[in-house]
Amino acid sequence: MMRLDRFLAINKYGTRQEVKKMIRAGRTTVDGQVIKSPEYKLEEETAKVAVDGKTISYEKYHYIMLYKPAGCVSSTYEKGERSVLSYIDEVYAGDLFPVGRLDKDTQGLLLLTNDGELSHQLLSPSKHVDKRYYVELEKEVTEDAVRKFQEGIDIGDEDLTMPAVLELTSHPQHVYVTLHEGRYHQIKRMFEALDNRVVYLKRISMKELVLDETLKPGEYRKLTEDELIKLKV
Ligand code: URA
Repeated sequence: MMRLDRFLAINKYGTRQEVKKMIRAGRTTVDGQVIKSPEYKLEEETAKVAVDGKTISYEKYHYIMLYKPAGCVSSTYEKGERSVLSYIDEVYAGDLFPVGRLDKDTQGLLLLTNDGELSHQLLSPSKHVDKRYYVELEKEVTEDAVRKFQEGIDIGDEDLTMPAVLELTSHPQHVYVTLHEGRYHQIKRMFEALDNRVVYLKRISMKELVLDETLKPGEYRKLTEDELIKLKV
């Protein structure tokens, strides 16, 4: 069961305040009856809800791209820390969880959803989903590092890292890294093993999903149909 105002807000009919006004103005029907109470409880998967006569289809799953800013944690709750969920409208926030984690000081693409199946697919180690990062380092990065990233690096785990792609740029301390796995602090540990240090880290893509550069840190938007299809294949 779900409240009518939440149902409309989740389906992007406006903020909670706006939808409450719409409901009180008598513009909303549930199963053909005008309902003027925002608290009205409905069976979200079966009720036929309409605004100004236009039926609204219920979205069970939500897929949000957040431009994670630095200074917040990816866990949904951690004492004394600001969670990435604090950036998301309260109507979604309760259901959503982040797909994987970024370090507190790492910025960039973070997918949030309530679709456990998709999350599982994207995080499953056997799937080797590509994740691409933009990295700035304390010291210069050389061709030798490119080879080591390709060969695998000993970062103190049982196994070497899987082959990863390190792309140099015209700036000697700025690079791109593509990982096919996701270990704890992986990029930082890989560079540390090569006697370097990450000073800025930003995820720019995950599989086919690319961070929308029109978003500012802390902003988010829903995935498009096209983005979702590409993530699911
Ligand atoms: N590698 C890291 O070291 N940190 C991240 O947040 C992501 C990848």
